[in-house]
Amino acid sequence: MYSEKVMDHFQNPRNMGEIEDPSGVGTVGNAKCGDIMRMFLKIDESGVIREAKFKTFGCGAAVATSSMATELVKGKTVQEALQVTNRAVMEALDGLPPVKVHCSLLAEESIHAALWDYAERNGIVIEGLEKPKADIGEM
Ligand code: FES
Repeated sequence: MYSEKVMDHFQNPRNMGEIEDPSGVGTVGNAKCGDIMRMFLKIDESGVIREAKFKTFGCGAAVATSSMATELVKGKTVQEALQVTNRAVMEALDGLPPVKVHCSLLAEESIHAALWDYAERNGIVIEGLEKPKADIGEM
């Protein structure tokens, strides 16, 4: 039911943990299943994401998608990171079962929430980024 990549990222998640002193943090949740994902980003002066870490309290697919999402945004500019949609994360994982697609949305939303936080801290506007509806702040 799950691809090898999903199983791999679930069993050996990349970049799990926290970043001390992050440039932006976003926490999102899915009201239906109650799962929560928090994304930490470290962004340098030129707007490149140097580090990404996550903490996910959720299902296996949520862990795998957060792991893949951190891998995908690392080294990207803020603008490029906006292209890391849930679809892109799913493709990189060789797909998810249909009932698990919503889990990958958390990954996209947590990236957006962390970028929004980064923009707010720095008083900048990231073109194309909308205010995340689901940033639930402190867990
Ligand atoms: Fe909730 Fe997967 S079941 S994120």
